Amino acid sequence: MTVSLGLPTIPRRLAAGETAAASAALPPRPGPDSAPGLLDRFGRTATDLRVSLTDRCNLRCTYCMPADGLPWLPKDQALSADEIVRLVSIGVRDLGVRQVRFTGGEPLLRADLVDIVRRVAALEPRPDISLTTNAIGLAQRARALADAGLDRINVSLDSLHAETFETLTRRPFLDKVLAGVDAAAAAGLTPIKINAVLLPGVNDHEAADLLAWSLDRGHELRFIEQMPLDADRTWHRASFVTADDIRGRLAERFVLSPHAAPRDGAPAERFDAVGLGAESHLVGTVGIIASVSEPFCGDCRRTRLTAEGGVRSCLFGDAETGLRDPLRAGASDAELADLWRGAMWAKPASHGIDRDDFVQPVRTMSAIGG
Ligand code: GTP
Ligand code: 5AD
Ligand code: SF4
Repeated sequence: MTVSLGLPTIPRRLAAGETAAASAALPPRPGPDSAPGLLDRFGRTATDLRVSLTDRCNLRCTYCMPADGLPWLPKDQALSADEIVRLVSIGVRDLGVRQVRFTGGEPLLRADLVDIVRRVAALEPRPDISLTTNAIGLAQRARALADAGLDRINVSLDSLHAETFETLTRRPFLDKVLAGVDAAAAAGLTPIKINAVLLPGVNDHEAADLLAWSLDRGHELRFIEQMPLDADRTWHRASFVTADDIRGRLAERFVLSPHAAPRDGAPAERFDAVGLGAESHLVGTVGIIASVSEPFCGDCRRTRLTAEGGVRSCLFGDAETGLRDPLRAGASDAELADLWRGAMWAKPASHGIDRDDFVQPVRTMSAIGG
């Protein structure tokens, strides 16, 4: 399927002597007659910033990392807390960022996470702050994170069976994850969203069980189609579990109907779900993130910052604009904002997984930020 995007309508007059062709290669400059945010050539504006705090992780999910892990970023190449807060504050104050999500790798591995959250929560205008995590260690930190200003949390959980969990993640930590989810709920980090990736023959039979478990606890489950972002390069077009497969499996135990609220640029398409028969007390919503079979690039509002300070306009593709080195060399906030704008202006129309010439990005999910 090809995603078609409307041509951009950039509210900007050409400067004296500037040609239309030249202006197409440049982001609009902030000023009275142009929008100051993170615009791209296709008319989209990024307001949702995803900040990867580390490329390290304490799990080894088969669809993400190799068994032995990856060559980690040396500590001095990762952004410090001060550098992260400076870049996020430029995003929020000067570039129209309204939502900040911390990801990784595993963001709970950063000892200074609570401090970073507290400082971002003090920014004006105060952004919505969320965390995407595997929840290992969350039981001990959920309260401190909530007190620091974290609003909500998304937890990766692909199986409710200890053995399958260990097969998928190569670690025996299901109990820690479940304790983390409970602690997040007790600390009010809601709504809690559960992210599940289904692999054929491994955990795809658990789709309805995962939904029953989530509805029973008031969490919102989202299934994510497996994407070609793994280090082992095992993704195959013909063998991932599609949104259609997922809806089919859920229909055995639930009635699904389109959710009324507008999607608003979110990766997940939401459905209202009601259990059948003895499960009719199970009522709520479920999301499906169909990045591959039903791409949503046309309404993308995301900009990404890697753990080493690179701006990525898209999960896919290899284009990255480094902000760390200019920052360390003394660049001003305005100069960093201009570099960020330039990176986003070049955002591709779509990821192109559907095209024959699609090439998997060099960086894997954990090294980009989920
Ligand atoms: P909220 O609904 O606001 O909580 O955000 P979210 O759904 O973006 O949160 P989360 O970090 O849990 O992201 C869920 C998954 O959506 C990610 O792990 C990715 O698999 C997928 N996703 C997020 N952003 C993108 C994107 O820009 N492109 C694609 N293709 N997938 C994305
Ligand atoms: N395809 C789809 N989702 C993935 N994630 C990690 N790797 C992949 C992949 N190859 C998900 C994790 C987590 C989120 C950050 O990204 O399950 O929920
Ligand atoms: Fe870690 Fe997330 Fe990758 Fe799993 S998917 S190995 S939790 S970074």
